[in-house]
Amino acid sequence: MNGIRLCGVGKAVPSKIVSNADFAARMDTSDEWISSRTGILRRRHCGEGETISGLIAQAAREALDASGVKAEQIGACIVATATAETLVPSAACTLQKDLGLPENIPCFDLNAACTGFLFALHTMECLLNASPRKYGLVVGAENLSRVIDWSDRSTCILFGDGAGAAVVECAEGCPSISAVMGCHGSRELLYLPGAESGVHSYLSMEGTKVFKFAVEAVPWCIGQVLERTGKTVDDIDFFVFHQANARIIDLAARKFRIPPEKYYKNIAEYGNTSAASIPLVLSELSEQGRIGSGSRILAVGFGGGLTWGGCLIEFA
Ligand code: COA
Repeated sequence: MNGIRLCGVGKAVPSKIVSNADFAARMDTSDEWISSRTGILRRRHCGEGETISGLIAQAAREALDASGVKAEQIGACIVATATAETLVPSAACTLQKDLGLPENIPCFDLNAACTGFLFALHTMECLLNASPRKYGLVVGAENLSRVIDWSDRSTCILFGDGAGAAVVECAEGCPSISAVMGCHGSRELLYLPGAESGVHSYLSMEGTKVFKFAVEAVPWCIGQVLERTGKTVDDIDFFVFHQANARIIDLAARKFRIPPEKYYKNIAEYGNTSAASIPLVLSELSEQGRIGSGSRILAVGFGGGLTWGGCLIEFA
């Protein structure tokens, strides 16, 4: 079986910026509380006329342009999301039409909450090995502002909207991404009811318990990926973490003695964008020229489900 590597990345975020001061103006919170506990300064929310489908298409187009791959070369398309605009058609089917992707390929949504992008990369690796086309499109996107409960100050301040996309190539000689992933069913810690529940869908979370889960899951994933690939921290060019809380990232970095120039946080600007957070980081790092041809990236995610995952992915 061949592995996959990144050929191009892209991103799109809504134009409406919601600062910590905006929250403090409408509820009992403060910029100091939010920034010191989470690292978040502001986040983006979809405003009038902005849709998550629009952001998905914009991010995907940017990734295709960056990769030089044409829409007709794509062999599968997965959108990782828990907040698609419509359940049917899926966000991936809508994207197929928007971009003119081939009709004879699988296009579908995948929900693994904040770990969704990594679950999707792993799934894409399997799919492309069975496809005559060798390129795949993987998107992570969320419209979390639609499902936040404005009466719950401990969660509503955390989340933002956005989309990130990657074009990947499956070719002979590509190393496997060596994905490790898992899940542990739990409604109690993180919950977003579906349409069938009859109640308005709001996200709820036991933040302190999720924090404890995350500070164990992230190092576990890093350790597993390093062990499976026979690599050390020195062999990795960049560590890309799901952006849920700056303290979770810093604790993991400290545990593995990852030098500051080898990891990145953009949570201050976007908050937690769930499935979009890892591809948003990849896209910004690429824009800044900090990752590119030949870079070896260890990515780690965790979130609702509960789910967790890690993988090692190289830039073409
Ligand atoms: N502003 C001011 N005070 C707030 C607040 C806010 N926005 N939200 C909660 N508080 C208060 C609480 O009411 C509580 O007050 P009390 O001690 O008087 O009861 C106090 O702050 C501490 O609340 P707690 O929930 O224990 O805070 P915390 O230190 O655990 O931080 C999170 C809360 C959400 C920032 C933190 O738990 C977290 O980041 N968890 C992980 C979340 C995560 O990773 N989720 C995504 C999974 S993908």
